Amino acid sequence: MTAQLIDGNALARTLRADVAQRTAALKTRGVTPGLAVVLVGEDPASHVYVRNKVKACEANGLHSVLEKYPAELSEAELLARVDALNNDPTVHGILVQLPLPAHIDAQKVIEAIAPEKDVDGFHVASAGALLTGAPGFWPCTPYGCMKMLESIGCDLRGKHAVVIGRSNNVGKPMALMLLAKNATVTICHSATADLGAMTRQADVIVAAVGKRNVLTADMVKPGAVVIDVGMNRNDEGKLCGDVDFAGVREVAGWITPVPGGVGPMTITMLLVNTLEAAERSAG
Ligand code: GUN
Repeated sequence: MTAQLIDGNALARTLRADVAQRTAALKTRGVTPGLAVVLVGEDPASHVYVRNKVKACEANGLHSVLEKYPAELSEAELLARVDALNNDPTVHGILVQLPLPAHIDAQKVIEAIAPEKDVDGFHVASAGALLTGAPGFWPCTPYGCMKMLESIGCDLRGKHAVVIGRSNNVGKPMALMLLAKNATVTICHSATADLGAMTRQADVIVAAVGKRNVLTADMVKPGAVVIDVGMNRNDEGKLCGDVDFAGVREVAGWITPVPGGVGPMTITMLLVNTLEAAERSAG
């Protein structure tokens, strides 16, 4: 069997068109959804990411402001900026790009963001909302993975989902989202004794470790759905995921490629969350 591809670029285009339409509708009510992106320091990858976030806003009718600060910005100064953005009615979503310089307590800064503007879904209030099923914002990457599963009509009820990775921003929220859709969920991580024994039972596998070839063909049940969140470089410097794509695609039923899979979905869900924040504030 050769797996069918879940095309993140195509799905992102469809969802962004919906965002653009809802944004235009909100504008007729006098509200333009606004995202503030705060970047501290010179990390080149972060500069690329934030540029892409701002561009995606512009392309879909959202307003965005990009605040760039030198790496020397103090924690107190950053907290003051967050406070000002919390009180700015033209800003519906606030994103402080991570990583922050070492002298700044990133969690403290995230907790300073008003939960109703936490479009990254990283605030403890957002995590608690996801845990309890209350309204809030879901972290963009796992939220995008859920949209990919939905797009192929994957009914998760009673399915066994295995999440590889337990990060606060991807692995843990991913497991909660799958659970909310009635999957039986196993979280695997670096201390899991026999990863293959777990993944071979899975109907759905989400790999979110940040390491190449974490999942190989012998670890996958025929027909399983495989979502690859990884963003790594191979020996030739080419972008690759956590999954041995060439091998696993011969066994899986569905698979997301890297690039062109989960990647384009993350920014898309940021747009969705920002629009949602603006819609909620407009009532
Ligand atoms: N750094 C890398 N990815 C992200 C993200 O999704 N949000 C924030 N705030 N920082 C990041």
